[in-house]
Amino acid sequence: MEKSRREFIKSTGAAALGGTLAFNIGMPQNSFAKNSDTLKVGLVGCGGRGTGAANQALNADDNVVLTAVADIFPDRMQTSLENLKKLHGDKVQADPEHQFIGFDGYKKLIESDVDVVLLATPPVFRPDHLTLAIESGKHVFCEKPMAVDAPGVRKVLDAAKKAKDKSLSLVSGFCWRYHSPKRETFGRVLDGEIGDVMTVYNTYNTGELWFRDRKSDWNEMQYKLRNWLYYNWLSGDHIAEQAVHSIDMMSWALGDRLPVRAVGTGGRQKRIDEKYGNVYDHFAIVYEYDDGAKGFHFSRQQKDCANSYAVDIAGTKGTCLVDCIRRKHEIVADGNKWRYREDGNDMYQQEHDELFASIRAGKPMNDGEWMAHSTMLALMGRMVAYTGQSVTWEEALNSDEVLSPSNEAIATAFEMGFDWPGKQPAVPGETKFF
Ligand SMILES: NC(=O)c1ccc[n+]([C@@H]2O[C@H](COP(=O)([O-])OP(=O)(O)OC[C@H]3O[C@@H](n4cnc5c(N)ncnc54)[C@H](O)[C@@H]3O)[C@@H](O)[C@H]2O)c1
Repeated sequence: MEKSRREFIKSTGAAALGGTLAFNIGMPQNSFAKNSDTLKVGLVGCGGRGTGAANQALNADDNVVLTAVADIFPDRMQTSLENLKKLHGDKVQADPEHQFIGFDGYKKLIESDVDVVLLATPPVFRPDHLTLAIESGKHVFCEKPMAVDAPGVRKVLDAAKKAKDKSLSLVSGFCWRYHSPKRETFGRVLDGEIGDVMTVYNTYNTGELWFRDRKSDWNEMQYKLRNWLYYNWLSGDHIAEQAVHSIDMMSWALGDRLPVRAVGTGGRQKRIDEKYGNVYDHFAIVYEYDDGAKGFHFSRQQKDCANSYAVDIAGTKGTCLVDCIRRKHEIVADGNKWRYREDGNDMYQQEHDELFASIRAGKPMNDGEWMAHSTMLALMGRMVAYTGQSVTWEEALNSDEVLSPSNEAIATAFEMGFDWPGKQPAVPGETKFF
């Protein structure tokens, strides 16, 4: 039994990891020389991360140009274009006819002749944006998380399958999976260096994030969309929007197996002002696996507290520590200590280097299934914390709870000046699971 589990992890985790590394090593230095077609990129969501992703896409390959952009706010789009032009000059070719403003901007962008679509809006829009991009035959880079509720995750799983059927590349913004120190460290764990993984304690305990003060010409929906982090129907709550990175690493260490059930707690203690919408400021979740392994997740967005962003793994033969703040990657097993000693790579650039190389080589990459599952793990954590109930993976994935109105309804509310109040902050023991 023990052996078969190790074999399973080795074949799923390490082989997949090795496949990526082998593929990278096998790529020609100048893959552009193999195929001189210009690759046209479209960016949906021109905020901080979207602008960063466009920069990395334009750096990834000599013959890549940005031909279209979409956003709901003209000011965000113009700032993004100005910054990208400073960095890339003529490679930024999105003329005014290809600067699409509005909630249907992504449709027009996808209809234009772009080859690659970068999706970096708030998460609520991701399932629809991803589905259309894949159905329209585009390669995709999409930021995490992939959805804010289980129906959204199921759409993403469908889109990921279609991407595979259509031989399209689909790369996720779970950036640590593209970080060389973590690839080496998790690779060793998956190869059994610390024996069978028994517990994975993982944290994302930080201070507070940005807040955008209300302006007199913003209607209520505009205010919420500008401050999307604080509305769980737009962001998924911070366990999904931010702490999902740690949960994703927990899942990676466990060979991307699915848990049987989860139970947990959470609440709003410090960040209780109305301006913080309906999200929690802390979560503590236990994920239980069929062989007794457990994942313990803690996340917190409260200022002036001890910070921690780490994954601490205990196995039957040793331990492994990955500390994202102190940049430590170490394994202690059989009396020996191993430490990753080199400088890490730029993981954000690596995502795009591999995406564009895969397109050039005609060897599609597909992060689809695990990126959807990691998102679902975070949403499952939110479900058990909000309700106070113990929930199985099957129940969580098949949940019919839809947190947000449709994209079209959000667009209408935005245009007509209507509000979408969303639900009051959840109360464990009272908030129902469905
Ligand atoms: N991988 C990472 O390390 C990382 C880091 C930061 C953010 N992110 C993720 O990237 C995404 C964007 O985050 P951000 O920090 O850039 O936020 P942001 O607010 O800076 O940018 C979001 C942009 O999307 C636009 N937008 C909103 N709704 C839209 C719609 N329907 N159509 C088109 N554009 C729309 C906004 O106007 C804004 O310009 C989030 O999912 C976030 O979790 C990932």
